[in-house]
Formats: sequence, structure tokens, C-alpha cells
Amino acid sequence: MGKISTKFVCNECAYEVPKWMGKCPGCNGWNTFVEESITPRAAGNKKATANAVPLSAIADSDVFRFSSGNQELDRVLGGGIVPGSLILLGGDPGIGKSTLLLQVAHFIAQTGQKVIYLSGEESLKQIRLRSLRMDINSDHIYLVNEPDLDYLSNYVDELNPGIIIIDSIQTVFTSEISSVPGSISQLRECTARLMELAKKREIAIFLVGHVTKDGALAGPKVLEHIVDVVIYFEGDKNYAFRLLRGIKNRFGSTDEIGILEMSGQGLKEVADPSYIFIDASGIGSPGTAITASFEGTRPLLIELQALVSASGPGYPRRMASGIDQNRLALIIAVLEKRCSINLSAYDVYLKVTGGMYLKDPSVDLSIAAAITSSYFDRPLPSATVFVGELGLSGQIRQVPFLEQRLKEIQKMGYSQAVIPGSGGKDAYNRGELEVLEVNNLDEFMELIG
Ligand code: TYD
Ligand code: MG
Repeated sequence: MGKISTKFVCNECAYEVPKWMGKCPGCNGWNTFVEESITPRAAGNKKATANAVPLSAIADSDVFRFSSGNQELDRVLGGGIVPGSLILLGGDPGIGKSTLLLQVAHFIAQTGQKVIYLSGEESLKQIRLRSLRMDINSDHIYLVNEPDLDYLSNYVDELNPGIIIIDSIQTVFTSEISSVPGSISQLRECTARLMELAKKREIAIFLVGHVTKDGALAGPKVLEHIVDVVIYFEGDKNYAFRLLRGIKNRFGSTDEIGILEMSGQGLKEVADPSYIFIDASGIGSPGTAITASFEGTRPLLIELQALVSASGPGYPRRMASGIDQNRLALIIAVLEKRCSINLSAYDVYLKVTGGMYLKDPSVDLSIAAAITSSYFDRPLPSATVFVGELGLSGQIRQVPFLEQRLKEIQKMGYSQAVIPGSGGKDAYNRGELEVLEVNNLDEFMELIG
């Protein structure tokens, strides 16, 4: 046993210093340092306990994935759960994390494997209540209400589970560290231990992590570099739709999103996601435009609404929900400069339907279309989808995955698509879908004029 010494760790940003300080140099927070004892690992002549293994010696059958029972979650995980992986599911309170994981537990239990569901957040009765609501009943799901992680390996020895669910990482602790559950040092230590457990026993572990705005509970940000997979569960609580977004994935791509719908009996997969982001009642009214945004590996048709209204005294307002505010300002500036639309005396509001947040630049054209349509108070041509990125000089630029977007547009029954000009529209014209090309905003104004 080595000498025990201490260090001080900032509870906000994990900055470490040898001596206590009032102000953290890392995050400038006051009074955030907590003392932590460190036991140095035994040094000296150590003998390796694990052998070095040639890559080819690892059998293919050792690398496999199994389904979580939820296609959308599987998609974000990169095709399923990898045994031995540590998966962090982050999201606002009440978004549906516990609901989703209970459903995963149910599916895994149905395949004959045991599941440990460690809840530090809710009582066993509360979980039972939720399970009844969701019609879940199983003697393979073992609930554990013991937030001390030091006991977890006992349960694992006893039950040999297929997966473990920790709900949430902010409520568990190890008694080896004196700081309170949820503090940075507890979070790091607990996550590191769970990682070790996952890898040693080849059990996939799901961690629930709350994202809180106040600094009382450390957000899962500090854990992101430890775990294998980070998934964010997003969505507007006022809508039924939820998005699973991969942020980090050691076993797959992070471009994927999963779309789920909260129902009376838990979360359901959405079979035809394009329908949910379009509000049929708004189509044909001024200020409404449809676009095909590429989210992950699939295109989604999404409705945007703009409202341009005369502003009062002072600066005109620009408000965007569902896209970056700066992007809205930029598109407005381009419209003003290139199309001689004077928006300086108008407030501009923009909204993406369904609580979706769009980063795909190819929705620019539809934003411009929605704004001009509201400005002139004229509806856009009906059953038309706009796709294109807007350049600062007013040119409409090419977008990736055009073929897939057009396929989705056609599938959803639209009759027209406005795309960036490349002279290749004939190649896309087929069936009922008419494809129109625009090279710049002038051509675009002529088209919708
Ligand atoms: P929950 O999974 O407890 O959220 P989290 O663990 O992320 O904090 O879900 C909470 C919300 O979901 C709650 O407002 C009720 C709602 N809900 C449904 O609408 N249907 C259901 O079947 C369940 C179980 C929950
Ligand atoms: Mg919960």
C-alpha cells in the first residue's frame, strides 16, 4: 500500500490542484474545490496479468451485437448493443430515459437473459407502477435499490445479467470517495468502476445521466470521454416525439438519429417519420415551406413556418426555434441584399415543426422560401419541397444525398421539388415528381413569384 495523499478537485470542471483554492482557475467558479484522497497504485516490478494477443486471433464470433428490442435505439447504437460496452443516455429530466430503458430491460428479459435495474432515483414501487402502466411484467428484471456501487458486483455474481441499467449515474456512489453522489469525483470514479465491470464481465451497462442547467449536479459532459457510447435523448416535452442522437460511438457512426414517440404505453418507434414533422393543416398558407433535411442516414421531410410582421419601435426581432439564430440572421441579410426585400422594419419569426433542431445547411432555401412567402403574404406553390444551401452572394448551392432526398419527396407524394441547378434535373424527373432547378435567388424569386 502506497502513501495516501490528497488533492483538490473542482466540482464543476474537474480541475485538479494540489492545494485548496478559493477560485478555480479552470472554470472561475468560487468555492468549488473538494478534497479527495488518492492512493497511488503500487509501483515497482509488476508482472503483466494479460497477454498480448494478435488481432487475427480474436474470433469473428467474439464481435457481435444484440438487439435492444428497439430499432431506433439499435440504429443509434450502430446496429445493436455491443457486449461489454458502457452506454451513457443523457437527457433532460422527464424526457423518457427510464421509460426507454425499462422497455429495453423487458426485451432483454424476454430473450431469457437477466437484467439488473439499479435505481437510485425512484423507489421500487414507483418502477413497478411504471411497468404496470407499460404492461411490463417479468421475473428476469431484477430491481436493485442500493445506490452504493460497492455492492453491485455481488448482484452481478449472483444473477449473471445480460445487461445492467444504472438509473442514474448522479445518484450512485462508492464509499471510497468522501464527496457526495453527483459530484465530479464520484461521477468519474463510479463511471470508471462501471467501465471496468463492463469490460471484465462483458456485460453492457446503460447509464442514465441528467443534464441540468444549474451547477448542483454535474452534467454527464465529464463522463463523455470515459464511456464508449454517448446518446442524447432530446425533444420538446410538449411534443410526443423524442430524438435519440448519437454523440459518441466507439462501435459505429454518430450521424444517426432515432425517432420515437411517447405514447400511453411507453415509447414507440415511428414507422414513417416524415409524416410527424409536417402539419397538414398549415400547408398552403403563407409562410409555410417544406424541406427534405438529412438527419443521420435518412432524409426527413420537415415543415418550417415563418412569420414576418411589422415591428414596433426599436430593433426588429429575429427569433428562431429549431435552427440557429445566426443562420436566420444570415439568410435574412442575403434576402435583403440580393432580392431587395427590406426586412429592417419587420420582425421575423421562424419555427421548425415537431421540436426538431436542424443543422443541415440544405434547408436554407426552404427558410428563404418561408420568409418571402410570409413577407408577400402569398402561399408557396402547393405540394412543393425546397432543398438547397444558400451562398452569401445569393447562389443556391449543391447539397449532398440529393437522390435520396428526392426519393423520399416522391414517396411522400409531393409533386414538385425545387433543387440547386446542376443541369441534371432530367435525371431526377420520374413518375409524378417534377424537379425544378434554381441557380440563384433571382431565379428562385421568379419561380415562386
Ligand atoms: P421518464 O422515463 O420517467 O423520464 P426520465 O427518466 O427521463 O426522467 O418519463 C417521464 C415522462 O414520460 C412522464 O412525464 C410521463 C411520461 N410517460 C408517458 O407519457 N407514457 C408512459 O407510458 C410512461 C411510462 C411515461
Ligand atoms: Mg428517470
